[in-house]
Amino acid sequence: MAVRTIVALPGDGIGVVVLNEALRVLNAAGFEAEYEFGDIGWEFWCKEGNPLPKRTLDLIEKHKIALFGAITSKPNEEAKAELSPDLQGKGFTYSSPIVGLRQHFNLDICVRPCKSYKGNPLNFVRRGKDNTLDEPLVDVVIFRQNTECLYAGVEWTNPPKQVYEAFMTHPKFAANFGKVPVEEISLSTRIFTRRATLRILEAAFEYALKYGYKSVTVCEKPNVIRETSGLMWKLAKEIQKNSYPGIKLLNTNIDAQMMWLTKNPEDYGVIVAGNMFGDIASDGFAGLIGGLGFACSAQFSSDGIAVFEPTHGSAPKYADFEVSIVNPIAMVESACMMLDYLGEDNISSRIRKAVSDVIEEGKVMTYDMMKMSGHPDVINKGAASTTQMADAIIEKLN
Ligand code: NAI
Ligand code: MG
Repeated sequence: MAVRTIVALPGDGIGVVVLNEALRVLNAAGFEAEYEFGDIGWEFWCKEGNPLPKRTLDLIEKHKIALFGAITSKPNEEAKAELSPDLQGKGFTYSSPIVGLRQHFNLDICVRPCKSYKGNPLNFVRRGKDNTLDEPLVDVVIFRQNTECLYAGVEWTNPPKQVYEAFMTHPKFAANFGKVPVEEISLSTRIFTRRATLRILEAAFEYALKYGYKSVTVCEKPNVIRETSGLMWKLAKEIQKNSYPGIKLLNTNIDAQMMWLTKNPEDYGVIVAGNMFGDIASDGFAGLIGGLGFACSAQFSSDGIAVFEPTHGSAPKYADFEVSIVNPIAMVESACMMLDYLGEDNISSRIRKAVSDVIEEGKVMTYDMMKMSGHPDVINKGAASTTQMADAIIEKLN
């Protein structure tokens, strides 16, 4: 069989370091692949005026699968100032390449598992009965619709005449905002389509079925946001009734879910939400399992493109340390999601077991796990470097 090719997108800052360590772990675990490295990120913005060059899109289109580190984004004015002098003033505008990737390939399904490792000193604990400490193990997988909702970018300040007039036909807009001068109105629209909502719901139920989760929870706010949240809840009920009667369907409001986050996180399995609330819920649950050093994700399109990445960014503060201190586990976990997708479950379970053994043993911990603040001298104080953590995982594989 031909060896498969994975597009490796290191990006910026710590993205480069963690991706490199994850590739070492994949190799050590016996995963056979070739990697084609793609250009993405700040360097290509500065040199070419495009942080996501067409050659990179073509590469992903060709191989259909990418493992991505992280990129640096900056506000447009700052970005323009850093363009190479020969490109300045030529009308280049910056936009985030990760958002660009999502839009270009319509990566509409985002999966963010939040699973605690036993023994992780960053695990959430709560007060139990008789003043004991409880450490509920969280195993939640968030399905976030990744392309619509408030993140679709359909928004205006001082909306154009046709838009304003259309809004004025809505009695609630006319009554509550009709007297506000139009130039004082900012509008961000929350758009859900039936097709994309069905896709994220189907993906969530299918995952629950495949991996044996007992419930799917729609985390929106249908009692107030009746059209969009309401659509998701209505479709979820239909799908559950028609195709997944064995899986329990729950409904929580995002605000209440954030309150329950610390009360009973172990009671949730698969959670599905629109873009905004999915973003909030996934950060909330990620906090319970150790935060950014542990939060992984996958994104899928309807035509077979898959991108795997940690949810953290490029952490520029730590990017130039002589010895890298950041935790590679989120990136390694993202690589495991890629292995699951490729049907290499044997290799992914071996890697996850190795990670779990390192954490439970507690001898090798990165600075975040030791609750230190990030500084080069954490290494002298006993924290493991990024490479030492990857080495410890590799050692447990053998
Ligand atoms: P960040 O996620 O890069 O870092 C925030 C803080 O989290 C760090 O200072 C560090 O304390 C901690 N952290 C992050 N990754 C860690 C790891 N692997 N191990 C241990 N600790 C870790 O977010 P920030 O500082 O808001 O953004 C930095 C840059 O990254 C910005 O330019 C931002 O636009 C970009 N960004 C890119 C993302 C992506 O590529 N998907 C996602 C989020 C931010
Ligand atoms: Mg976020």
